[in-house]
Amino acid sequence: MEILEKHLVVFTPSGKRGHFPAGTSLLDAGRSLGVDIDSVCGGRGICGRCQVRLVEGEFAKHGVKSTKSGLSTFAKGEVKYRERRGLAENRRLSCHTKLLGDVVIDVPASSQVHSQVVVKTADNRKIEMDPAIRLHFITVQEPDMHNPTGDFERVAQALEQQWGLLELECDLRTLQKLQKALRLGKWEITVAIHRDLRITAVWPGFHDKAYGIAVDVGSTTIAMHLCELFSGDVVATSGLMNPQIRYGEDLMSRVSYVMMNPGGEVVLTDAVRKGINKLIKAVSDMANIDPDHILNAVFVGNPIMHHLILGIDPTELGGAPFALTTNSGMTLWASEIDLISNPDGRAYFLPCIAGHVGADTTAVILSEAPHLQERITLIVDVGTNAELVLGNNERLLAASSPTGPAFEGAQIACGQRAAPGAIERVRIDPITKKARFQVIGSALWSDEEGFSEATKKSGVTGICGSGIIEALAEMYLAGILTTDGVIDGSLADTCPYIIPTDRTFAYVMLDNEENPIRVYQTDVRAIQLAKAALYAGAKLLMDRLGVDAVDRILLTGAFGSHIDPKYAMILGMIPDCDLDDVNAIGNAASTGARIALLNKNARDEAEELVKRVEKVETAVEPTFQQYFIEAMALPHKTADFENLKKIVDLPKPSTATIVDGSGRRRRRRAK
Ligand code: FES
Repeated sequence: MEILEKHLVVFTPSGKRGHFPAGTSLLDAGRSLGVDIDSVCGGRGICGRCQVRLVEGEFAKHGVKSTKSGLSTFAKGEVKYRERRGLAENRRLSCHTKLLGDVVIDVPASSQVHSQVVVKTADNRKIEMDPAIRLHFITVQEPDMHNPTGDFERVAQALEQQWGLLELECDLRTLQKLQKALRLGKWEITVAIHRDLRITAVWPGFHDKAYGIAVDVGSTTIAMHLCELFSGDVVATSGLMNPQIRYGEDLMSRVSYVMMNPGGEVVLTDAVRKGINKLIKAVSDMANIDPDHILNAVFVGNPIMHHLILGIDPTELGGAPFALTTNSGMTLWASEIDLISNPDGRAYFLPCIAGHVGADTTAVILSEAPHLQERITLIVDVGTNAELVLGNNERLLAASSPTGPAFEGAQIACGQRAAPGAIERVRIDPITKKARFQVIGSALWSDEEGFSEATKKSGVTGICGSGIIEALAEMYLAGILTTDGVIDGSLADTCPYIIPTDRTFAYVMLDNEENPIRVYQTDVRAIQLAKAALYAGAKLLMDRLGVDAVDRILLTGAFGSHIDPKYAMILGMIPDCDLDDVNAIGNAASTGARIALLNKNARDEAEELVKRVEKVETAVEPTFQQYFIEAMALPHKTADFENLKKIVDLPKPSTATIVDGSGRRRRRRAK
């Protein structure tokens, strides 16, 4: 009996090693050692996913002198692949390269099934690629009169023999296409398999295109990332205003629309799905792909958006006890929610946490992973309803606080959405009290040369949420606002920027005849109410967790990401914390959706986490009202804000001049 010579192969970066008979393919050697090498074509030299690199040199550690002679020369199939699709200088197809001597072989990240991608979170997390959809190219045995096995059964047999996949099921729509695909592909087809369990799509011949979308459906905007499912690359990003806005600015008005208009939920569902499809078309066009290649989608959103995309009437979410139809994760066919992507693709919905803590918060947790840290993290998703998460690897709590739409520029006299022309940054001279500002669309400050020219097109149209936060904080620092949030009328006699209005005073940021920009006392009140609700919610969660300080704070959400943490703290929106540990982190819900898209286990992790999160109902907590009242002051009536005081000189409590019922001005002492 011939005894084959054995050679040592060491794979990097895994360090896995083993001896194999001469002539073993590198792919087979790697597979038997459990090395992570990708393949769609199953070793036929078609997909190019199995590329490896010979590392030449002497490796004393392994006792290997690794040279070209340790590998077979280019085989026919490899040459064909190189001619057709190109192969970098030092790359080989591991399925076609045979072992002839001792070698060290590098498996580049692009050839690893579970390569890691870095996603932009506060800690720039590394996510292991493990999408729910996998493609497999197979050769299927032709039917035979004497063996009446069905076509699907022979496909299942091929998948078992060629890929080790057992007990697969098949979607009916795929089954309907199967026979044609087999014959068109001359008994070679590619199948897409969802979670190694179910065949969801089939193509004749070889097919290696698979994309997914991560969708964050907010009440104001919808954001979508198109990702390549195997590299994790974001190939296109787009967003648009939620088309439901014409039926109500905020969530509650949309629920009212449904309650007052029979069939209103159908109209809202139709509107949001149309918006999503518009984005699918936009990202597909940007990446120059067919929407049919989108095989997986992950959706996150607040509970009302979550229900409306699914076509579920959200009426129950409009009032106590805010009952969700379901708080489980869900996988559907894309066709069930009318997506224009591949109808047989899967759409996954991350679970909601509670009646007003949605799947967007679940996604934020997935993205920022407070449950994996010892440090106590407070995550604040600022929007019409602030969603709060607090905790660490021991306990995690969540709540929502009714902040109202003031932070988004609504209820503010000169407020507006964040758009070109909106004031977003404000500085006030403490002596002259004159404001200077920046508007969205220009990097220049209003007192810099060229500002008028740079903003000619948009003009200065109003103040957006982050602008109003800075305006109020700067007004407070400049002595225009007292600790209890009163615009000090005593300055009106000497300062042209403080003007009387009815019974109170206003601060003039821009004295422009056509469109003067002013901050009124009612604006200050609206923001005070919103920020007090936010702070009180955070304080309640801290009480429940038994801590009187947090180690870090993350601000997220479309608005939260644009707030300067320092100003949020001066205003007392968030508890005191070392400012180095307070960060605006961008749209973490979108990042969480992307993580769930790229790693199927993250979905299971999220579903488990949601069960563990302790839900706190702020509205029924007796201490909420007390915390709320104390938090109305700037930055707070009783909390010390020691960290903030180290870097900002906070004004002493002061008196303000107000106008009394008879129209006379009088002094009022700050409480
Ligand atoms: S496994 Fe597809 S080319 Fe090697």
